Amino acid sequence: MAKKTSVLATGGAGFIGSHVVVELVDAGYDVVIIDNFENAATDVLQRIARITGTEVPTYAADVRDRELVRHVLGRHGIDVVIHLAGKKAVGESVAEPLMYYDANIGGGIALLEAMGAEGVGKLVFSSSATVYGPGDAPMDESHPVGPSNPYGRTKLMLEEVINDAVLAGKISVALSLRYFNPVGAHRSGLIGENPRAVPNNLFPFVAQTAAGWHDRVRVFGDDYGTPDGTGVRDYIHVVDLARGHVAGVAHLLSGRMQRGHERLNLGTGRGHSVKEVLAEFSRQCGFEVPHEIVARRPGDVAACVANPQRAEHLLGWRAERSFEEMCADHWAFQRAVLRQEAEPAA
Ligand code: UD1
Repeated sequence: MAKKTSVLATGGAGFIGSHVVVELVDAGYDVVIIDNFENAATDVLQRIARITGTEVPTYAADVRDRELVRHVLGRHGIDVVIHLAGKKAVGESVAEPLMYYDANIGGGIALLEAMGAEGVGKLVFSSSATVYGPGDAPMDESHPVGPSNPYGRTKLMLEEVINDAVLAGKISVALSLRYFNPVGAHRSGLIGENPRAVPNNLFPFVAQTAAGWHDRVRVFGDDYGTPDGTGVRDYIHVVDLARGHVAGVAHLLSGRMQRGHERLNLGTGRGHSVKEVLAEFSRQCGFEVPHEIVARRPGDVAACVANPQRAEHLLGWRAERSFEEMCADHWAFQRAVLRQEAEPAA
């Protein structure tokens, strides 16, 4: 029997990674995870197994461990790497920039070296729309870059490192996927985002407030130049995002792209305001999520929305899940977490 295509997902136990792994297994790929479990719970592996019926081989290790990464690439005959491992808290990156450059840039370099040494030439990189400078209209990939914090700069710098590695022939092809705002959760309620610290992002904070963990959501400003005055973002369902990765892997394997590096937006092309998020979440919960308007958050922009046409054109992929589904699935996962925490410890 011909060997199935093997994909390594670094950071495969995290919020986005776990959804990517599920979609890859469902699409018929052999998948291997490397994750240092710094920001992921080990029980996510059983949850992935429950959803897919497959135990995904997993290495609890850091991508900066070159020897281990080389061993995994060789042993599993990896064809494509999806690099999701990295640190992602904006505030922490401002306080601890060296830690961020070490983990995110150092991790990327170690991975590229290991790929070069093992002759693995195809890479999908988890980048972010945070690489863009401000702009009110939907942004395409030619929108000027200008990240405003060290986290964002690590994403942009690693894109550049990857670009140079491709130019020098260290790897052959790469896609940098610039995610807009991933939200929602898998329909099963088994995997989703369950931050350990108090979240800074809107969706997890709204979900936790609806769950009674915080007394109210603070709406950071209602005097922006947006239709209702609150910030507008391009929220994308994490399952759509995960399927974008599967489409990216298929594109790299298709041979249509022999050499080169493409940067692609993954978003819906539609923006929703903070007030719209609160209203839809309240509708899904059946009660009003408490909130108050406070001052703007420093560093926030009025609107950030993707022009996702390039990804659609190149990958034949487009986000399909509605804003209502994003809120419903996010809330369903939060309720599953609540139920689980209410269970007496075994
Ligand atoms: C943030 C990060 C960005 C990261 C993205 C991931 C910052 C400055 N940027 O972007 O680097 O890629 O998350 O999803 O942190 N809001 C409130 N109350 C809250 C939280 C948020 O009103 O308690 C508002 C914000 O002002 C914004 C919107 O909700 O208008 C979305 O905020 P958030 O979820 O933090 O995402 P971003 O700011 O887009």
